Amino acid sequence: MTLLHALATRALRALDPEDAHGLAIRALEMGLGPRAGRDDPILATEVAGLSLPNPVGLAPGFDKNAQVFAPMLRAGFGFVECGTVTPKPQAGNPRPRLFRLTEDQAVINRMGFNNEGLEAFAGRLKARGPGVVGANIGANKDSEDRIGDYVAGLRRLWGLASYFTINISSPNTPGLRALQTKAALQELLGRLAEARDALPRAGLVPMFLKVAPDLEDGEVEAIVETVLATGLAGIIVSNTTVSRPALKSRFREEAGGLSGAPLRTLSTDRLMAFAEVAAGRLTLIGAGGVASGADAYAKVRAGASAVQLYSALVYEGPGLVGRIKRELAALLRRDGFSNVKDAVGQA
Ligand code: FNR
Repeated sequence: MTLLHALATRALRALDPEDAHGLAIRALEMGLGPRAGRDDPILATEVAGLSLPNPVGLAPGFDKNAQVFAPMLRAGFGFVECGTVTPKPQAGNPRPRLFRLTEDQAVINRMGFNNEGLEAFAGRLKARGPGVVGANIGANKDSEDRIGDYVAGLRRLWGLASYFTINISSPNTPGLRALQTKAALQELLGRLAEARDALPRAGLVPMFLKVAPDLEDGEVEAIVETVLATGLAGIIVSNTTVSRPALKSRFREEAGGLSGAPLRTLSTDRLMAFAEVAAGRLTLIGAGGVASGADAYAKVRAGASAVQLYSALVYEGPGLVGRIKRELAALLRRDGFSNVKDAVGQA
């Protein structure tokens, strides 16, 4: 990370977190983000048919409106997932709704899918260059047909996004996570699969389901079965948690989803549970508390073909991704792997 970026990251941390995020987006749009060099070939990989220069992705929530995927790819992320986008624009919850838990290296958010809607999102994706950019789709809070909202997202963004993520795990849209129960999930994924199969090149655009870490063991099995039955590529584990492990920050009682360091072990344990049940039949992506090469490596060894992060960026800025990649490459070499692919699920 350059000195300039280190100073900018510190200055942003002195602001209200949502104002800081807005400024970061504007700076990135103006071309002020870092530029990474070529990736170490040991990190080149393939995830559900998508070729990635490295397995470290930007998690959704940072670029909700598909404004800065290009600068974030230039900053060194191996792929970027934009969204969550809902069909209609919506304001989300009242502010404050984003909290830095600095002592805990964590974040709590209850944004509530604030976003500019599908049309604005599609317009920006249309102009995209090379690189893997996923679309994370969701439902409007006031929607009378939530499943219809997911289908609308898939159809509108088909041909524009490299892959799709079906987000049913945000804790901030009341009732959304009920879509994780078996009957509801069967209906949702069934209708999405039907819509997908009617679109051109259906077999070439992977779809993932993103789940919460707050699941019982029986739910893991039901989700894996349903995902397999509907021909999705895989599962992203995980979204934020509504649980509250021991935290120090004064914001610890705020309502919303917790992410960052306190989510790390919980999400990696869940990932391992999914890997065990899926037994190589699905592609898994790990998210939750990744802040170092060792954290990324733990998820890869637990079964993730790639990882995503967001919260650590709040504390370190986009230069973080370069450090994570260097550390991950060193760990792979130390353990005798010639490519990151060979380490997947080796825990
Ligand atoms: C998120 N996350 C998220 N996930 C998602 O699928 N759609 C979304 O719109 C958002 N929005 C969002 C906003 C904020 C402020 C945060 C911190 C997080 C969840 C995110 O993608 C990721 O799954 C978790 O945050 C866990 O990763 P980290 O943050 O611990 O690296």
